[in-house]
Amino acid sequence: MSSFAVLNGPNLNLLGQREPQTYGSTTLAAIEASCAEVASELGCELSWFQSNHEGALVDEIQRLAADGTDGVVINAAAYTHTSVAIRDALATLDAPFVEVHISNVHAREGFRAHSYLSDLASGVIVGCGVQGYELAVRRLVALTSTP
Ligand code: DQA
Repeated sequence: MSSFAVLNGPNLNLLGQREPQTYGSTTLAAIEASCAEVASELGCELSWFQSNHEGALVDEIQRLAADGTDGVVINAAAYTHTSVAIRDALATLDAPFVEVHISNVHAREGFRAHSYLSDLASGVIVGCGVQGYELAVRRLVALTSTP
């Protein structure tokens, strides 16, 4: 059975309360539950991780790389725009990753338009709201399924 991971960066633990005009009212736990349903529908395993700490995200990516994950969905949140360390960790993966942003980062402050991750990503899903997570899981399954 294929095994995928969803990683979430800083402040995403506050989804539901945090800037609802930008991020909506769905909690991270609710997104996790809907992604788990999609995973079960598609017959794959899905792990879930959130941290407010850059090094913890790097450690988790290294753990996933060592365990031979089949693919990663990552919303690195603010670290998207700052973290060479997370980029370098993702570059060690033998599996594809899909970058997700709930909001349309291209319609916001200029600093959000740059991502340290996008050029390494298999795909980028931006501005599709929390549905972006589910779309990313479906994309990883499609990318890694043998025809
Ligand atoms: C975000 C966009 C980032 O710019 C921001 O720092 C976040 C969330 C998004 O999902 O839209 O924390 O990644």
